[in-house]
Amino acid sequence: MADKNFVIAVDGFSSCGKSTVAKALAKHLNFVFIDSGAMYRAVTLYFLRNNVDFNDENQVVSALKNIQIDFVPNNEKTQILLNGEDVSDEIRQMHVSEKVSEVSAIKEVRHEMVAQQQQLGQRRNIVMDGRDIGTTVFPKADLKIFMTASPDVRAERRFAELKAKGEETTVEDVRANLAHRDHIDSTREESPLRQAKDAIVLDNSDLSQAEQLEFVLQEYYKRIK
Ligand code: DC
Repeated sequence: MADKNFVIAVDGFSSCGKSTVAKALAKHLNFVFIDSGAMYRAVTLYFLRNNVDFNDENQVVSALKNIQIDFVPNNEKTQILLNGEDVSDEIRQMHVSEKVSEVSAIKEVRHEMVAQQQQLGQRRNIVMDGRDIGTTVFPKADLKIFMTASPDVRAERRFAELKAKGEETTVEDVRANLAHRDHIDSTREESPLRQAKDAIVLDNSDLSQAEQLEFVLQEYYKRIK
């Protein structure tokens, strides 16, 4: 690898399979994978547990000072720690999903998370997935992928994931949650979900995981030649 680090940004709508592709890519290339959505989820969990009023700027700012988020590699998985506690499973539950878009639209939250994400991406090869990675966090990323899939495919995928974890929900509730999050994510003022001009679009509605990895790897190899 050349002396400069290589940054791959994977953005897109909720439940498009961004982290599946990003993880597979990081594993294949031996890059560090960072799930930026998990950081917003951890902040949301902290706010919920500590009854932080999302609309009170002072409360938000002082709560942010008490939050330490770490990623710890553990065998095949990367654990996410909130002040030292492994919250990897809890941050995926519906009570967090229902509030995370609201929390991630808060300006102070975004500024803090973007700064931490930029720090995490310094001097190493990374694959980071999220909503604003190619537009705001790493506007000069070496490769930008924008993922999309049909709403039905996305809802079925997320429903299957939640069901496998024993969470009681319906596919209709999941579809409604995704639509609600897409709306907030794309219309918020601070770094909304947008496709970067130089991003490559990957619609994976009808693609296997192997095909998606192959697609992204081809784009990667074009750029390192
Ligand atoms: O990728 P995810 O569904 O785990 O993300 C959870 C929420 O976090 C999502 O509704 C939008 C927000 N998010 C964001 O605003 N910016 C990012 N870079 C990543 C996630």
